[in-house]
Amino acid sequence: MLLLNCVLLVVVLFRKCANTGLILSIKDLSKTLEGPKWPNEYYLKGEIEDIFNAGSEPFEIWYKENLNRSRVDVYDGSVKKFYWADREKLITFYPKTEDLETIEIACDYEPRNKLPYNILPADLNWTLTGSGTYNGLDTLVWEAKDKKYHYTTVTRKEDDFDVPIRLDKTKYEVGTGMSTDHSNIIFFDYNSTVEEATLDVESEKLEECGFYYSTIEEKLQHLKSYISHDVEVAFTRYKSHHKKTYNGNEHEMREEIFQNNWRRVQSQNNKNMGYKLELNKFADWTDEELASLRGALPSKVNDPGTHPFPHTLEELDRLVEELPGEYDLRLEGDLPPIKNQLACGSCWAFATTLTVEAAIIKKLGGVQLDLSEQSLVDCAWSYGALGCNGGFVDVAFKYVTDHGIPTETEYGRYLHEDGFCHINNMTVTHHIRGFTQVTPHSVNALKYAVYTYGSVEVSIHASADMTLYSSGVFYDMACEGELLNHAVAVVGYGSRDGEPYWIVRNSWGETWGEDGYILMSAKDNNCLLLDNPYYPVV
Ligand SMILES: *[C@@H]1O[C@H](CO)[C@@H](O)[C@H](O)[C@H]1NC(C)=O
Ligand SMILES: *[C@@H]1O[C@H](CO)[C@@H](O)[C@H](O)[C@H]1NC(C)=O
Ligand SMILES: *[C@@H]1O[C@H](CO)[C@@H](O)[C@H](O)[C@H]1NC(C)=O
Ligand SMILES: *[C@@H]1O[C@H](CO)[C@@H](O)[C@H](O)[C@H]1NC(C)=O
Repeated sequence: MLLLNCVLLVVVLFRKCANTGLILSIKDLSKTLEGPKWPNEYYLKGEIEDIFNAGSEPFEIWYKENLNRSRVDVYDGSVKKFYWADREKLITFYPKTEDLETIEIACDYEPRNKLPYNILPADLNWTLTGSGTYNGLDTLVWEAKDKKYHYTTVTRKEDDFDVPIRLDKTKYEVGTGMSTDHSNIIFFDYNSTVEEATLDVESEKLEECGFYYSTIEEKLQHLKSYISHDVEVAFTRYKSHHKKTYNGNEHEMREEIFQNNWRRVQSQNNKNMGYKLELNKFADWTDEELASLRGALPSKVNDPGTHPFPHTLEELDRLVEELPGEYDLRLEGDLPPIKNQLACGSCWAFATTLTVEAAIIKKLGGVQLDLSEQSLVDCAWSYGALGCNGGFVDVAFKYVTDHGIPTETEYGRYLHEDGFCHINNMTVTHHIRGFTQVTPHSVNALKYAVYTYGSVEVSIHASADMTLYSSGVFYDMACEGELLNHAVAVVGYGSRDGEPYWIVRNSWGETWGEDGYILMSAKDNNCLLLDNPYYPVV
């Protein structure tokens, strides 16, 4: 305070001197100088004295033009203001006293699309009105006016710049000429270098004050950059985990698919829908490639099969009363290991073969059986099947009824391609007597059929989400209005948290879903599972 008054005195003296012409050659100097040349990067420490309100506020300011940022701390940093013109924001940290004991540092931000705060007023027409010395330094006195204020500043030279020693700002009322607002700033410290870090805020602190969520656009922008980093990391991990390698152009294409799926998985999993998706081996597949994972076509006519389902719906109401609450064919015995149709639309062959295997195993008990899906892919064409391009479920059963299925050992391994049919050269084929269509759209009928006759082949709509299924009871609203495109086998039923489900065996390998299986919701005929169920009669 004492110092302030002293300086004030000195300036008043300067002005007086200048006015009385005691200081020589001011006019000459004035011609060569256009005004103080403020530094474009500075640290200044000082105190603002508000003459009218008799208060004084110590402050520090950092200003860096090339970063388009500045920062002002007052009262030894208890309040910090970050002026980020580069992000059009003013961020303020301030102490918040919840009760008298706890003080937390709170944070606010507001939009501000101006240049960073600069305590040294720019764009004024200064006039040199005096010079002198202060603390042994040569000083100059400048005055300027704009619409509101009258400015006086005392500066000294340092390097190429004029550094302020003090700055005086007075507002005069138009008309009366009375001064209504008067502040002095005195500066104690100056440094010509500002570290970039001084003008930055740790990202955690920013997020704490919700900085990123001022507008939807900004939130999205933030989310995007956040995502693009995370998704990049995820993609790198994904490629290495699944041993994926792509050539040239392909990489970008795969990455884009992966990014979309990454988002799909994040957003679906965030919804807590009772099931989870994951970035599995299909997460970089194109739609066309995914289409090849499916391949069931709906039966041409709603084929009732060779043996009608032997129960009416009324009977079933009674019959299901006797069934256990849960049933899992996997626990009963010997379902063969999960298979993988690979990129061939042969799901119909896999689901049909599985139900035949399961039925025979159930009938004979304890036998090991691995029948050839490839034989169906190769040989059922004349019945209307299309090999790797898909097949009808009823058609598959008709074919098997007529020709049976050889073992894989004898027929040869699965090729995931269309091959030459050589069923006539087989020594042994396993036959069925026919097949039955379970009454469609009846949960009771399907439950009873699974429990009594073994696994049931169903056609479903395999949605995009389903290809990324990881665990839980899958219910996909996106299936609504869609068509059947995949064939799988129901091998049990149960319920989880009151949510009834079917245990469904897929043919996308063991690494997909829950060890190759998916729990599909039994509600609302979701994904059309009850549209077209069949089982073989052995
Ligand atoms: C600084 O920020 C202001 C306000 O956002 C903007 O108009 C200006 O172009 C920025 N200048 C630079 C050099 O980035
Ligand atoms: C400074 O002077 C110039 C030219 O005389 C004028 O155009 C400008 O408006 C003045 N600026 C201020 C802040 O008075
Ligand atoms: C100026 O600031 C820089 C960076 O913060 C520091 O290294 C340097 O010592 C300071 N100079 C003076 C004279 O205080
Ligand atoms: C089937 O067997 C016959 C005679 O053994 C043979 O000539 C024919 O090439 C075989 N066909 C296939 C497709 O293997």
